[in-house]
Amino acid sequence: MDGGSPMITSLRGRLFAGLTAIILLTGIIGGLFAHRWAFNEAIEMQDSVLIQIAGLVQTGSLAGGRDLHGVDEDAEVWLIDQAATAHDTEYESRLWKLKDGFALATRKGQPIRVLMQTRHDGTRFAVAQRTSMRDEIASDMAFRTVLPIAALIPCLLLVTAIVVARSLQPVVRLAGDLDGRRADDMTPLPTGQMPSELHPFIASINGLLQRMRGLMEQQRSFVADAAHELRTPIAALSLQVENLDPVDLPLRARDRVAALRQGVGRIRHLLDQLLALAREEAGKADAATMPVVKLDDIAKEVVAELLPEATNRGVDLGFAHVDSAMVRGDPMMIAAVVRNLLDNAMRFTPRNGRIDAYVYRGSDAAILQIDDCGPGVAADEIGRIFEPFFRGQRPEGDGSGLGLSIVKRIVDRLGGAIEAVNLAEGGLTGLRVLIRLPAANF
Ligand SMILES: Nc1ncnc2c1ncn2[C@@H]1O[C@H](COP(=O)(O)OP(=O)(O)OP(=O)(O)O)[C@@H](O)[C@H]1O
Ligand SMILES: [Mg+2]
Repeated sequence: MDGGSPMITSLRGRLFAGLTAIILLTGIIGGLFAHRWAFNEAIEMQDSVLIQIAGLVQTGSLAGGRDLHGVDEDAEVWLIDQAATAHDTEYESRLWKLKDGFALATRKGQPIRVLMQTRHDGTRFAVAQRTSMRDEIASDMAFRTVLPIAALIPCLLLVTAIVVARSLQPVVRLAGDLDGRRADDMTPLPTGQMPSELHPFIASINGLLQRMRGLMEQQRSFVADAAHELRTPIAALSLQVENLDPVDLPLRARDRVAALRQGVGRIRHLLDQLLALAREEAGKADAATMPVVKLDDIAKEVVAELLPEATNRGVDLGFAHVDSAMVRGDPMMIAAVVRNLLDNAMRFTPRNGRIDAYVYRGSDAAILQIDDCGPGVAADEIGRIFEPFFRGQRPEGDGSGLGLSIVKRIVDRLGGAIEAVNLAEGGLTGLRVLIRLPAANF
């Protein structure tokens, strides 16, 4: 639809608006007809009362008098006898000119309905009733007929709203299911509980998911194969560079060799990260089926592995707190997480700075925390550092921008959560990365 179009785009809104219109229209038309019918019926009924009274007067059961108290008090019916009105008023003289039967007349300025009759002896009488009174009674009866219809309309609208909302619930649930999925979760949607109308739709989505799974698999194996194939020539190149002894080279060539060595190192790192990514994506296993490992032991191993490099850089790397904490996961993947975080921390921590690692055990989570004392991440970038290939405004060293995205994928797969916050205490800066993994219970 074009912007600003007043069309209702939600299916629920459209159904409800349509059904509301039908209910209101039916109610109004039905109500009008019922009202008219009941009104006419009431008028006829009152005419038949006048006929009955006239019958009684004819048979002499009712004496001629001006008032008929007790006959129909509410309806205000009265009898006008010609014999009893010797001194004709103008109104009565006009009355006696009317023929037998029903007629409309006026009495004291008010319209009345009269039934004229002639007795066998030739005397005449009229049974009269005020028109306004008749209408009032008829309206009252008609209103009572319409009342249940009017009361039914809001109930119907409510029931319609509930039925529409409940009927569309499966669609909302389906959307929720899809939204709540991990980006790489390609398992087909179940059709079991869904209404049959949705089955073709779900089948199409499942077909699409299957095609996407195939494409992702192709892409993953391409990246893995390419990285793997490139490893051997790069390793050979790296060896060649190492074999160039700088001592035998003229000064200008030494600089070039150093640049070459750095470049080759960068490519090797990128290939390693790409392989780690491909390996992570290939790991289909669900966290629940993975082995239980000690997070603290893995963290200690990685710290020990990186200690020589830290010492080289003049960085004080160590544990500030270690609890024994069990988690489920592939030890290689968890080691990759710790290594990537420490690698980042080391890159940004200045000489004589420190990096503190923590392993805590919570009630249902194991927590790994790495604090560095680098510059931290700019506020507008901190939300993006987990994106693949994002390196920010101030990238440090030779990185690919893949480290944190690999870490996040691994943590997601293990059912955990990752968070990065800038530290700013007493003029000191730094980045704190917190990883929570579900604790494994025995
Ligand atoms: N400890 C940190 N302090 C400051 N900035 C950081 C820190 N860790 C990550 N960043 C920022 O986040 C970006 C992304 O980090 P990530 O680990 O994904 O990539 P990388 O370290 O640049 O490359 P790679 O990890 O592949 O070698 C970094 O380039 C850097 O800008
Ligand atoms: Mg990194």
